[in-house]
Amino acid sequence: MATSDQKISPELDTIHVGHATSVLATWADDLVDTIVTSPPYYKQRDYQGDEQIGLEKTPGEYVAALTDLFQEAYRVTKPSGSLWLVIGDKYDKGELLGMPWRVALALKDIGWRLRSDVIWHKPNAMPSSVKTRPTTDHEYIFFFTKSKEYHYDADAIREPHVTFSENSKMKGGRNHFHKRNSTPEAGKNSGDSNLHDGRWDQAFHPKGRNKRTVWSVSLSKFREAHFAVFPESIVETCIKATCPEDGIVLDPFLGSGTTAVVAKRLGRKYLGIDQSAEYTEMAQRRIDAASETTSSKQKTLEFD
Ligand SMILES: C[S@@+](CC[C@H](N)C(=O)[O-])C[C@H]1O[C@@H](n2cnc3c(N)ncnc32)[C@H](O)[C@@H]1O
Repeated sequence: MATSDQKISPELDTIHVGHATSVLATWADDLVDTIVTSPPYYKQRDYQGDEQIGLEKTPGEYVAALTDLFQEAYRVTKPSGSLWLVIGDKYDKGELLGMPWRVALALKDIGWRLRSDVIWHKPNAMPSSVKTRPTTDHEYIFFFTKSKEYHYDADAIREPHVTFSENSKMKGGRNHFHKRNSTPEAGKNSGDSNLHDGRWDQAFHPKGRNKRTVWSVSLSKFREAHFAVFPESIVETCIKATCPEDGIVLDPFLGSGTTAVVAKRLGRKYLGIDQSAEYTEMAQRRIDAASETTSSKQKTLEFD
């Protein structure tokens, strides 16, 4: 492992090949603003390569490998920074292993502060033939921060309010509204300062309600990749919420490069790592193609 005086600040917008724990061990402290990543799930797939995580013999060894990696990731994250970890579970001999929570609790033990457990609901999840339990159509997205104080832009990821229907049984219901779809600020209660406290703001904020913890997002495909890739909208939500506009996003399991593509599109810098040279080349091609599309769109706009 490199000593502290050998640590480097890697050039931004670059991809690194190798075991993420060893690569991160060479990097300086407090570099990145947010990490958005999805490790290989336990015993799910062979990504080819001697350095891959996911094929450990026991759940404990898998958790230990990820804990080592996220310990280095913690060190390279700024004090205001955060980690979004997308992770699914696994059945073994008919029993659910509880892998996401095993990993989440281990990361809490090394200092990461768990702020949310988000359920990623997949409306287009693979049907299954099981008849003795419900079909799984979700994964977890854990939101951790490095410190108590951290960068979080709630306004950037608000979602539409649920409007009460004419028949709503909810107490108060539509009586809050001057007319359908209007907010109290614009309606009969405008000017009443009592209505602008925290609770009211949550319920009727003009930019929408605070983001909820169930995100319904369909699985996406990327033609070149033989494994599940991130839906871009999930990465977008995470980056907008926790990476400042000039900030740096890290994905230590870059795969096909989704995190980097979205980071660039949102004007952030990226750092990516993957143990497979083949995947890093695929990711680089995808990032280059995406930036060409963005710059040709910008040129078209300039001429309009
Ligand atoms: C689930 S895929 C990530 C997919 C990615 N989110 C995307 O959108 O394409 C997991 C990736 O982790 C990589 N990987 C596995 N073990 C690793 C390790 N020890 N260090 C770095 N990368 C690793 C695999 O090669 C694979 O590309």
